[in-house]
Amino acid sequence: MPATIRFDGQVAVVTGAGGGLGRSHALQLAARGAKVVVNDLGAARDGTGNGLTAAENVVAEIRAAGGEAIASAASVTDPAGVQEMVDQAMREWKRIDILVNNAGFLRDKSFTKMTLDDFRAIVDVHLMGAVICTKAVWEIMKQQNYGRIVMTTSSSGLFGNFGQSNYGAAKMALVGLMQTLSLEGEKYGIRVNCLAPTAATRMTEDLMPAEVLALLTPESVTPGMLYLASRDAPTRAILCAGAGTFSRSYITLGDGVHIGERPDAVEQLVAKLDTLADRSKEIVPSAGFQQSQMEVAKALAARKQ
Ligand code: NAI
Repeated sequence: MPATIRFDGQVAVVTGAGGGLGRSHALQLAARGAKVVVNDLGAARDGTGNGLTAAENVVAEIRAAGGEAIASAASVTDPAGVQEMVDQAMREWKRIDILVNNAGFLRDKSFTKMTLDDFRAIVDVHLMGAVICTKAVWEIMKQQNYGRIVMTTSSSGLFGNFGQSNYGAAKMALVGLMQTLSLEGEKYGIRVNCLAPTAATRMTEDLMPAEVLALLTPESVTPGMLYLASRDAPTRAILCAGAGTFSRSYITLGDGVHIGERPDAVEQLVAKLDTLADRSKEIVPSAGFQQSQMEVAKALAARKQ
């Protein structure tokens, strides 16, 4: 039997934890020993309205089960409110070990019908909300030499979904944020990962048939989050989780073809499309810089021939 994964003595902040996936994450972290800040604006499905009740209800559930939790109704898009939430956690518990950026809502429309306001609102809550919360805990985690940050991305960002250009763009931006923060956090013991969940929540209740939704419980996703938030977490991973199935997703780079600078470069490139599409030598670059190094290395090698 593998060792039980526990979070005793650790403090976790879970945003958007008044319902759905966030609630399941908060309950499990607390059940496994973490003290939890349950954050939720209490917004409707499209992000409108607010109230503390959603977060307070989850705090009551955690306390009833013998755990420790406090509620915050700060909007993740409000830097002052987020700072107050973080200050409160520090006053109460003196540290923050885990941040699960989970809050968000949808404004689905085809790109033709989508207004710039719909686009900005989604980028604001998913991307900027995660940036604001991460920024508020970053120095604390650096000082502690320990931190686990989970960004909630989506298959919509990784692979696209009709009607979700705003949401997909924001969710893929979180992968980009994770790529760089995992590099910058490495020497401070901060590990940053992405979770791409699929779950039956109010966000998805009208998007899939009932028998499919029955399999997609938030509770079947949460073990993926627990792994990414644990002491032995990886860093820079994209973990897809749904219906108890877990898979890793990667941003890869093919070996490529070197054409050089020549008048018929585009024709040469088109003539080599099969080599360009060959995936047998794909790698996951250790940083963006590795890709430019590969390009230059191929150019230098060609020059020597
Ligand atoms: P949900 O709607 O049940 O939960 C989201 C929570 O975020 C709500 O309780 C809402 O009040 C809160 N929230 C919204 N705006 C907020 C703000 N500005 N500040 C603080 N809290 C705010 O949805 P669900 O499905 O649990 O989603 C959780 C996360 O998982 C989201 O980031 C979502 O995009 C992501 N996700 C969900 C998928 C699914 O299949 N359910 C698929 C892929 C990603």
